[in-house]
Amino acid sequence: MSELSKFICNCKCVSKSEILSSIRKKGANSFSDVRTITLATTGCGRCKSDVENIVNQEMKKHSVRMMQFKIDFGND
Ligand code: FES
Repeated sequence: MSELSKFICNCKCVSKSEILSSIRKKGANSFSDVRTITLATTGCGRCKSDVENIVNQEMKKHSVRMMQFKIDFGND
């Protein structure tokens, strides 16, 4: 089983891949959005810090990509 397919949230059977997909493909912009889209953390809540860490890391990468896009294509 790959790292991406391993469940981060066992209660709702949500993998890292699904969390990343909610940000990259489904427009999630926050932990709250990811929670709404995937239902991760809505059971016992034990996975909350792991989900938050994944979201924070991905949002940092996303903002670096957006800054690079603005540099490459301008802000107009
Ligand atoms: S493991 Fe995610 S809510 Fe329980």
